[in-house]
Amino acid sequence: MVLLVCLSWGCEGGGGGGDDPSPDAAAPDAAVEAPTPDAAEAPADASVTPEPDAAAPAPPLPEVQGPALAEDINPDARIVEVNLNASKQRVRLADGATVEMYAYNGQVPGPMIHARQGDTIIVHFTNALDEDTTIHWHGLRIPADMDGSPRIQAPVRPGETFTYTFQAPDAGSYWYHPHVRANEQVEKGLYGPIVIRGEDEPAYDAERYLMLDDILLDDDQIAPFMSNHMEEMHGRTGNVLLTNGRAEPASSTARQGQVERWRIVNTANARTMSLGISGATFRVIGTDGGLLATPYTIDRLEVPVGQRYDVEVSYGDAGRASVRSYVLVLDENDNVVEEPFEVFAVDVAQTGASPRTVEWPEIAPPARRPVAETIELRFNGRQTAHGLEWTINGQAHAHEPLFTFTQGETVRMRLINEAGPEHPFHLHGQFFTVENGPALTTPQPGLKDTVLVPGQSTVVIRANLDNPGRWMAHCHILEHAELGMMSEFVVEPAP
Ligand code: C2O
Ligand code: CU
Repeated sequence: MVLLVCLSWGCEGGGGGGDDPSPDAAAPDAAVEAPTPDAAEAPADASVTPEPDAAAPAPPLPEVQGPALAEDINPDARIVEVNLNASKQRVRLADGATVEMYAYNGQVPGPMIHARQGDTIIVHFTNALDEDTTIHWHGLRIPADMDGSPRIQAPVRPGETFTYTFQAPDAGSYWYHPHVRANEQVEKGLYGPIVIRGEDEPAYDAERYLMLDDILLDDDQIAPFMSNHMEEMHGRTGNVLLTNGRAEPASSTARQGQVERWRIVNTANARTMSLGISGATFRVIGTDGGLLATPYTIDRLEVPVGQRYDVEVSYGDAGRASVRSYVLVLDENDNVVEEPFEVFAVDVAQTGASPRTVEWPEIAPPARRPVAETIELRFNGRQTAHGLEWTINGQAHAHEPLFTFTQGETVRMRLINEAGPEHPFHLHGQFFTVENGPALTTPQPGLKDTVLVPGQSTVVIRANLDNPGRWMAHCHILEHAELGMMSEFVVEPAP
């Protein structure tokens, strides 16, 4: 099990530190409760072109390796209908501890929902937990009453059911998670991947979805919540890194010369992940709102919580391709140093082939729409009698919407972080573009729904407010949101 030695923020009081209690001698393969990624290989031939016949059934969706697929119970090719059930579950994260967690359909992560753009998605949800919950479809621009906001939808009580129905509006990589006590429920394992496939997307030799997480274990169980000041201040950083619910990096296989598409999301409560790869190259081809007009190559991918990146991975050499998460730890002299932890690996078989170049389709960059209005959102915190409170424009848990806009408007939002800790800002139901962000280490082209605002700095976004309704706008550090950094906007329907 990858137990981080000690984290820059997580050491204090939270049960971090210590040696691995169970040196893993055995194969990491024995988890019955948790799915092993990459159980199946990519389809042998992804390049079969269907006959352009209106009556012909849609070709099968390409396989995406990662969390097991949700079973589609509807025979209609344009409807994806699944059952999701949240319950308590004992999960083996590695060949060691069995941890009491929460799971969708008994698996962590929850099952993958895979649909085509425009498909109808129907989710019959049953809450078998003993607390309220909802499901939020992070990034999907769907009607507000299906968005899982407990301010709009009455939370689903224990033993009750709710059916979510919506159409998948945009192609891309998304995810789902609860929006009630999310800091606890997401940490305990409630999250799953969503893939929405557009027409004419480039074909890859394989696709994968990597859900990256960290959890805080204390004595092999999920540590108590909000039990120390650091967790309130910086959010909860874990001491175990998970990739698709496994603490031991699953290793998969590929062939030299292959080019793959990986979808990556950071589902941690707070930790921004910094990823590097050796033995292969990364090219960023997509982000929150789908494929980019102009992909770009990078060495290090910074993934704040909530955000997604689609990366093209090319295997130029045989050997081992290794994805590392660079984590700040304390060394023996209490200096903060960066240390790499392998979170995913691929054994690349020798073929002598060099990677093919993937023909990039013509994709229009996001239109630069005129700005109707500029607003400011100021992020700050304050100490109260009951502890730390996080605020947006001076309000914690603002109950009235902070702003009212009109559908179709583009609004420039100056996100001003007046305090030290970083805040990944997430806007529900809309996309935005990032106008500038001085302290951002990774370029931010394309349409986003989440952007990192580093401490003591300002990031400017342009939000395209095209989806009417009442929408949450909050920090995706789940502790910050829980402690007040949660607001709402109204988008009035266009007259
Ligand atoms: Cu991913 Cu309001 O959340
Ligand atoms: Cu925050």
